[in-house]
Amino acid sequence: MNKFSPEVFENKDLPFTVNRLSPTIGGEILGIDLSQPIDSQTKDLIYEALLVYKVIFFREQNISTEQHLNFSKNFGDLEIHPFAPKKDLFPEVLVITHNEKSRGRENTWHSDVTWREKPSLGSVLRMIEKPQHGGDTLFADMYAAYEGLSDEIKEKLEGTIAVHDFANFRNRLIKEGKSDEEIEAFNKEYPMPEHPVVRTHPDTNKKVLYVNAAFTQYIKDWDPEESKEMLKFLYSRASVPEYQCRFAWQDNSIAFWDNRACQHYANSDYWPNVRKVERVTIIGDRPY
Ligand code: SIN
Repeated sequence: MNKFSPEVFENKDLPFTVNRLSPTIGGEILGIDLSQPIDSQTKDLIYEALLVYKVIFFREQNISTEQHLNFSKNFGDLEIHPFAPKKDLFPEVLVITHNEKSRGRENTWHSDVTWREKPSLGSVLRMIEKPQHGGDTLFADMYAAYEGLSDEIKEKLEGTIAVHDFANFRNRLIKEGKSDEEIEAFNKEYPMPEHPVVRTHPDTNKKVLYVNAAFTQYIKDWDPEESKEMLKFLYSRASVPEYQCRFAWQDNSIAFWDNRACQHYANSDYWPNVRKVERVTIIGDRPY
């Protein structure tokens, strides 16, 4: 049994309990109050839980924005998203609101901000206003996705590099009327980064499938058709139910996911009702 298996973790002397959401991904943590500062041992165990379950959940955390930020800062520096709406006075808090006029668009499998040279370590998302029905978020274990590939495909992907881009945001910025000069400035600031198709997680040392349908563009040095076909297949791996868990939110639920280990998909089935969340994103390292 490996060090990061739920069985090993759950046999430790923990200051909280964990309910698993599925055999491979997702753990709901009970008995922690995130409005209070956490001691370093608890912090280390929460981080270990993140490595074990890939996404962890907390319920009934009626915390302030400062407490949301303070909890997140335990795990690294926070990023400021250059394109998404932010909360007044809190540039590190991204506000995602959908309603009658704005249909949910986070319903593509992805890992956050892989268009950055140093994509995110993790995201801490708090449900502010949950629709009465629907609006669940699904998570997929990308270690399991990698392990499920055939030996032939694993061999083919060995050492391959994919190019990522913020194309979806660029298209939106163009629609919103940004000038060519403004777009060019963004292009210069966020040049299309290259990341391994299969990265190694810096803490678990395990291999993870690291391409996603939202931001990956093509596999470098491959024939364009072959790259397109392979990526289409690799993207589809996140949709395999055996690799997934699904979280049904309540107001003040919090999810903390490891962007290096999993992908997520916010179900947009609640339109035209309101769904509002606030996300804080922790900066990661350069994938290798
Ligand atoms: C996101 O894609 O970061 C948002 C996920 C969600 O709203 O559940």
